[in-house]
Amino acid sequence: MFTDPGDYVLDVMCGSGTTLVEAVLTGRHGWGADIDPLARLLAEVKATFVAPAAVEALAAAVERTLTGDLDDTWRPSLPNLERWFRADVRRDLARLRAAIMAGAPEDGPVRRLAWVVFSSLIVARTSVANACDLVHSRHHYRPWMEDPDTPGRYLRALRRAGRLMADFGERLAMAPGAPGVPRLVGDDAQALSVATGYVDLVFFSPPYVSALDYPRAHMFAVAWLADVLGTTTPAYQERARGYIGTDRAALARATRQQPLPPPSGVEEVDAVVDELAHAPAKAWVVARYFADMAAVFAECARVVRPGGHVVLVVCPSNIRRIRVDTHSLFVAMAPAASKGRLVVEDTYERTIHDHRRVMPYLESAFGERMRTEYVLVLRRGPDEPSAQPASCPGERLSVDHAELGGGRVDRDQQRPGHRGEAHDRLAGGQAG
Ligand SMILES: C[S@@+](CC[C@H](N)C(=O)[O-])C[C@H]1O[C@@H](n2cnc3c(N)ncnc32)[C@H](O)[C@@H]1O
Repeated sequence: MFTDPGDYVLDVMCGSGTTLVEAVLTGRHGWGADIDPLARLLAEVKATFVAPAAVEALAAAVERTLTGDLDDTWRPSLPNLERWFRADVRRDLARLRAAIMAGAPEDGPVRRLAWVVFSSLIVARTSVANACDLVHSRHHYRPWMEDPDTPGRYLRALRRAGRLMADFGERLAMAPGAPGVPRLVGDDAQALSVATGYVDLVFFSPPYVSALDYPRAHMFAVAWLADVLGTTTPAYQERARGYIGTDRAALARATRQQPLPPPSGVEEVDAVVDELAHAPAKAWVVARYFADMAAVFAECARVVRPGGHVVLVVCPSNIRRIRVDTHSLFVAMAPAASKGRLVVEDTYERTIHDHRRVMPYLESAFGERMRTEYVLVLRRGPDEPSAQPASCPGERLSVDHAELGGGRVDRDQQRPGHRGEAHDRLAGGQAG
């Protein structure tokens, strides 16, 4: 609707990578950013084709290696590790890590797929951790009474991933034009490593205000994969304060002189903050959420080309039984937040059927259940943005693209025909 095959689609909060997958399946380049290192790994793996034979070869190698002597002493740095993981599970996870490194010695798509499957053992409704439903809730202690057979689960999950790749390969073969290329291009949506005016469409679904605590859901898996993800448990915990929508550090900016957030300048946002005056922590959460999202709108307006679109899917929230019509507040704030570059073109509504919801919900606790989600369509005005500052983070990527035969400055040369070159070279690398 907003793009053609060969165009660039960027999800600035890509989560598990659905946008990237759909983009490459429709012949677009699917780019993603996410503040969460596990989400970035997951998105990249989900959108990158790996030959099913390579997955089966890895599964066979891991299976074989697990029958031999393996170092089972590696442990993550995680508070209360012994409580959350049984001794046999701790040993098995350490052995699996060693078997993955032996079975896929090179860092590349196969090894990264192996790590994602490893993480799925831990972040799951039936995690091998002594916890139930790590995806949606606090870490409720639920001890395993017997050995959950971590290696068996891993091998089954890896082979299932191989079957999913076979399906993905078949669907990719039907994609129009040359296959799109998935790529992770950054972390914080408020400061993206993407050149100004580069992408054709920004599409994303932001977190709800004060809803899922992604770092809490991912903490156990991140601890077991900290070295793979290039982080540490304390660094990840610290980073958690920067996630948009988080409740963490809500009151950090409150002072005796300023117990409630100062006005944002957007009347509709300030009205909700005022309604929450009786709950100052929540008032700060809401104020911070919309301030952060203002920075995201500004960044989306920067990276999308003139005439391109920014499309987002969003739901209203209830906070302390006060309804926050996030979509209306975004409509009110996006033009000013983007310095007039984004104009609201359309708003669509759709009903979420209860069986499709991923969030557990207790109406008595949170207020009326939200059944409608909104799709906001914003359009980047045709005017050229002002000159890009010398230190723009996009410079790094624009160099990559110049190397690939594209280049940012003379963008029209990359339109179908020209762009295909860069595209084929990347795609060729991947198909192998
Ligand atoms: C609702 S989810 C996106 C789900 C995604 N559409 C999918 O298909 O899985 C929101 C995402 O925003 C990410 N996020 C939170 N704060 C962010 C930030 N400052 N910059 C980028 N991503 C952020 C979270 O890590 C989470 O993955």
